[in-house]
Amino acid sequence: MDSLVAPEEPLRSAGLDQPTMRRLLRAVRDLAACRDVAGVVEVVRVAARNLVDADGATFVLRDGGKCHYVDEDAIEPLWRGQRFPLEACVSGWAMINQEQVVIPDIYDDPRVPYEAYRPTFVKSVCMTPVRSGDRGVAAIGTYWAEPREASVEEQEVLQALADSTAVALENARTLERLEALVAERTADLSASNRDLAAFAHVAAHDLKAPLTTILGRTEIIGLDPAVRANPETADSLAAVERQTLRMSEMIDGVLAYSTAATSELHVEPLDLSSLVEEVLQDVSGIVERAGAEVVVGDLPRADGSRALLERVVQNLVGNAIAYGDRTSPRVTIAGGLVDGRSVLTISDNGRGVPEAERDTIFEMFRRGTASTGLAGSGIGLAFSRRVVERHGGTLEVDDAPGGGARFTVRLPLHCSED
Ligand SMILES: Nc1ncnc2c1ncn2[C@@H]1O[C@H](COP(=O)(O)OP(=O)(O)OP(=O)(O)O)[C@@H](O)[C@H]1O
Ligand SMILES: [Mg+2]
Repeated sequence: MDSLVAPEEPLRSAGLDQPTMRRLLRAVRDLAACRDVAGVVEVVRVAARNLVDADGATFVLRDGGKCHYVDEDAIEPLWRGQRFPLEACVSGWAMINQEQVVIPDIYDDPRVPYEAYRPTFVKSVCMTPVRSGDRGVAAIGTYWAEPREASVEEQEVLQALADSTAVALENARTLERLEALVAERTADLSASNRDLAAFAHVAAHDLKAPLTTILGRTEIIGLDPAVRANPETADSLAAVERQTLRMSEMIDGVLAYSTAATSELHVEPLDLSSLVEEVLQDVSGIVERAGAEVVVGDLPRADGSRALLERVVQNLVGNAIAYGDRTSPRVTIAGGLVDGRSVLTISDNGRGVPEAERDTIFEMFRRGTASTGLAGSGIGLAFSRRVVERHGGTLEVDDAPGGGARFTVRLPLHCSED
């Protein structure tokens, strides 16, 4: 061989001039930042030619039994995109033997396939293997338009570039494999979420049909004078009706929860003031019955699904009234734009949520101490958090300034910036 640099041999940097050293360092730094193989190819293609002032450079990847000339940077076209058998080209020789090849005159070296070189400008070559473990996985070709022998310094700097390329290639391939795996898992997950939602949908319909029958029958039985005359039977019937209605609501809740994760999200610019106002009209009966006072401050705009976010606000206001002060419930709704996000807080004057329950109450069917003796399914907050997270936001609970619970919704802004 004309020249050989063993991988273990340290770079004798004393022989490199300052600009070359700087260019090599920049290439090494750029390689470290590469996230895919295409990025590595791009850095090496340009850096190799630059570092040794060559007339052309190629990046060759080992692809089974072939050398794949992936890309190049040269004064005239070389072999971009072509594949040659490993045994039939200089890059293959360098990869198989894991040795750098220096050819001062291509017409005077038996390893050169003249036919492939004849149409090109190339007269001399330095081919550097990229070694990973005990294998040549790629090669960096550098070419000149006149016969010349690459100096020891040039060979060294190219081998240093190749060694950094080996690490960058390995990282890029690992990252690409990981990304493919994540994409595959995400696809699996959304498929099983879709299956689950489809199942919930069918189950809900199947379960609701007998409930409708039960409700219809109880109504008819309730009209029977004999039943109405017997208070005990009438009470039992009313209990059946209440429980059936509750079950029907729970089925609706489960259905809403499962579809909140999978159904398409129609995001639109929203004015939270008008959204809250509309929800308050919908729940005006509950507000009146509880004798609750509701104070609404200035609210920001937001981006999201109006239908879903209305249900979130309805759940939070409903909870603030249900778990607020028993005698004079007060609900405070406030908000603003903070760090580029829309923030909405709903606070009450109840006993608040104990520290130990601040995560669990967001789980499906989980209820806390505040709900003791009160009707409910434990679905509202699970649904609400899922909807908010689906928007890329967060829903959390802490203490309201004067006591009571404060629920905070934070939503990213997508549709418009300012
Ligand atoms: N404002 C609040 N103050 C104190 N505790 C609260 C408050 N809001 C919710 N909680 C607690 O969190 C639990 C879960 O609330 P969530 O809204 O999910 O269900 P729920 O109100 O029990 O039933 P539903 O699904 O019918 O709304 C409640 O049972 C209650 O213990
Ligand atoms: Mg609730």
